[in-house]
Amino acid sequence: MESLGGVGMSIALASVASVNHNAPSLKGQVERILDDATADGSGESHGLQSGNALARQAFLERQPNALEEAHQVLRRLYDLQLAPVHAPEAEHQYNTQLMAVRVELERAWIQSELASVSPQSIVPGEAASAIRSAWKAHPSFDHPIFDFMEFGASREQIALYFICDYALNMRFYDLIALACLGVDEEARCEVAANLWDEVGRGERSRTHVTLYRNVLDQIGSSGDREDYLAMLGWEGLAGYNLLMHLALARRQHFRYIGALAITELSDPNQYAKLLRGCTRAGIGMDAPGVLDYYQEHVTVDALHGEGWIEHVIEPAIRDHPTHSSEIMEGAILRMNSTLRYWDWLLNKMKSITS
Ligand SMILES: [Fe+2]
Repeated sequence: MESLGGVGMSIALASVASVNHNAPSLKGQVERILDDATADGSGESHGLQSGNALARQAFLERQPNALEEAHQVLRRLYDLQLAPVHAPEAEHQYNTQLMAVRVELERAWIQSELASVSPQSIVPGEAASAIRSAWKAHPSFDHPIFDFMEFGASREQIALYFICDYALNMRFYDLIALACLGVDEEARCEVAANLWDEVGRGERSRTHVTLYRNVLDQIGSSGDREDYLAMLGWEGLAGYNLLMHLALARRQHFRYIGALAITELSDPNQYAKLLRGCTRAGIGMDAPGVLDYYQEHVTVDALHGEGWIEHVIEPAIRDHPTHSSEIMEGAILRMNSTLRYWDWLLNKMKSITS
């Protein structure tokens, strides 16, 4: 177990993770396969149980333990698709039983997410206004977590926000790289510009992963990837899984570009509030540039938000009009997931007493 300590804080990394002691066994079975470095990857001999029972408990009955387990399993299976090349689990990338479980879980999950989303197509030339209107009308817009960080949160509470954002922030390069694959030619420059920013426009010390590690160093947080992921309840894992699912599934391309539009639009204002909160709480005052991860997303994402709509979304609506409602669905799925995540995280932050 790792802990925070750099600004006089002490948050046990596992202290806010909910532990499910009565978990059904599917997660354990999946992990046993992934840990089996001697298997040939075919998966035929593992006798893995179906994911349908867990999918029903999680996404129809909304049982919290099942939601947690289902999203933990999905997270492992999505990460498997981007496993480090030296990792033994890469052998299992196309394990047919693991693929079947993933499809069973994600089919039920995405169906349940879409059940509350009304179809809404976008007229060419009106993507900016349509997406901005949907964004501003959604309860995730101007979420109180950012006002809390600007005006009231302690250094320890803001540090918890940094820690819980690890999963997506450290994966964003891959997520943008996946958006590059098979995208229409007209959108390629804009997507590639995002990727170029992720790698610091060629400057190693300015890659977004490096800048984010600087933030974690500043708050004295260390740990491996699994430590950080263990901090997240299902709400956080679901946000991560949503982008991973949309990025990895070809059929979800239009929903994916809609979901990314929301990320680009919402970052600048929220991160500006976060930075003012850091100034108020005295985080990073003695280390110039240490919060550049967030500073950069305030300035750069403001440009990317407009560029994404003009050069990625608008051409997609023009060239694939029958898919325009999927773009809006992706935007709404992303907003719904961030709302649950921020509600969960704000609660966790407020539960910290110094
Ligand atoms: Fe980034």
